[in-house]
Amino acid sequence: MNTDDLNQKFKNSTSQEVLEYFLNKYGAKAALSSSFGVEDQVLTHMMLSIDKDANIFTLDTGRLHPQTYSVMDATNLKYSVKVNVFFPNTKSVEKLYQDQGINGFYESIENRKTCCFVRKIEPLQRALSELDVWITGLRASQSVTREDLNLIEYDEINKVIKINPLLEWSEEKVWDFVKKHKVPYNSLHDEGFPSIGCAPCTRAVEAGADVRSGRWWWENPEHKECGLHIK
Ligand code: ADX
Ligand code: SF4
Repeated sequence: MNTDDLNQKFKNSTSQEVLEYFLNKYGAKAALSSSFGVEDQVLTHMMLSIDKDANIFTLDTGRLHPQTYSVMDATNLKYSVKVNVFFPNTKSVEKLYQDQGINGFYESIENRKTCCFVRKIEPLQRALSELDVWITGLRASQSVTREDLNLIEYDEINKVIKINPLLEWSEEKVWDFVKKHKVPYNSLHDEGFPSIGCAPCTRAVEAGADVRSGRWWWENPEHKECGLHIK
């Protein structure tokens, strides 16, 4: 079935139903990439309720907040799992440091994209090379760059079906789910961080501000994708 047919098939389905279909059909070849942000925590809860061995992985860039490691630990404990971790290539990180220093990403968009490539994209490509289906926590209302996404897409670069089960969810719906099911979440969300990435590239925002405005805050909104999610 092509992605148009799949989008048609799941037009009126719940996120749970979409996940059930793909987990049943693809097993461990379908995986969630989790940053341990609140959307990914919702998906983790749903996926592990469907299949206690569901495949979940994270990209540990080496620059995450301590609070992110705490929620990683809390998640592993609560669900009796061990989320898979992909680390950056050691040699590439050493070269990155030699080329641009430890915080070179503040100096130019090019440096920032190189850092994101080494610390996130290459490990992601390694993770996806083993998979048929990539599940993400993207929501359309998160940013201008995400408004046109579909529930089911085909990622030509990584040759995987990419599904965004929470695409149409509001932030409120996400939080209602978390509270109702007592899902562990990153404590930074209570400190003004609606979107959480690497520590040096994420800051708190005022209540009601654009949810991703605290990410790479020194760049324009149309540049604010690290390259994980490009078509
Ligand atoms: S990002 O591209 O700007 O970093 P964002 O933080 O909004 O993305 O998260 C969107 C989705 O990208 C998450 O729901 C998750 O599927 C994936 N993602 C982002 N960061 C990571 C990470 N460090 N590890 C695994 N998946 C991630
Ligand atoms: Fe590097 Fe910042 Fe990208 Fe993290 S978000 S990989 S620290 S540039």
